[in-house]
Amino acid sequence: MSNFTKESILSVHHWTDNLFSFTTTRNPSFCFRSGEFTMIGRKVDEKPLLRAYSLASAHYEDRLEFFSIKAPDGLLTSRLQHLKEGDEIIVSRKATGALVIDNLEDGRNLYLIGTGTGLAPFLSVIKDPETYLRFENVVLLHGCRRVAELAYGEMITEKLPSDELVGDFVRYQLIYYPTVTRDRFRNRGRITDLIVSGKLFTDIELPELEPQHDRIMICGSPGLVRDARELLVAKGFVEGDHGEPAQFVFEKEFAERKSLSSSRKRGHEP
Ligand code: A2P
Repeated sequence: MSNFTKESILSVHHWTDNLFSFTTTRNPSFCFRSGEFTMIGRKVDEKPLLRAYSLASAHYEDRLEFFSIKAPDGLLTSRLQHLKEGDEIIVSRKATGALVIDNLEDGRNLYLIGTGTGLAPFLSVIKDPETYLRFENVVLLHGCRRVAELAYGEMITEKLPSDELVGDFVRYQLIYYPTVTRDRFRNRGRITDLIVSGKLFTDIELPELEPQHDRIMICGSPGLVRDARELLVAKGFVEGDHGEPAQFVFEKEFAERKSLSSSRKRGHEP
């Protein structure tokens, strides 16, 4: 049996000139845990060209969803951005990754910290009822340069609260905090700066971070991961390493992706 299945593109959504998302069919045998990533790609010159992509769809949905940057010089994204309904895509049968709640100790508040397309794994986490059974409050922080890049905001604030399965959890337990650094917006500044200044906690009406009660997942630019890690370690948080459950985890697969031609092109393709 091949390690990959062939899936069809069901829909494509272009958020900005740099960001798009797409959904595909799902092989019924494909299983994953919320927060994981898988390898997807296209055949180029008869060879598979594959990259790691976080699953943005819930583990119980019958279609898969992926959120991507459009890197003009990225070998795969330059091709993926032209996908249309009905096109074929290859999807690995396996999923893996660090951003799963099983990697975290019990706690009161779960913070999901994502910049740019680093939001993707958290979309599956916030659609999973298990997340709300484990944690009292789930705080989703999404940091972008521009307001237009705050993808999925409407889905989170308009659609999810009335969802049949998780609507009640979302209304009572999810706090969504989008913030931008280069446009006017109600929340402004880097997530790390908002944590250090304490403004975030004033805004969301929760106490400042402390290892006893808070658990954290991080996914985004290498700079964010570096600075957020430093900040958490300084506060006494213990980092997870795929072994024992810990107090915070980050997605190495995402953070270690190299820059493409410029810092702006970095994203979902190594
Ligand atoms: P900034 O505009 O100040 O660089 P990018 O598009 O480069 O991936 O950035 C996405 C968001 O992440 C931007 O708001 C950016 O802020 C922010 N960011 C970049 N580096 C860091 C960092 N080291 N710590 C926290 N946020 C960061």
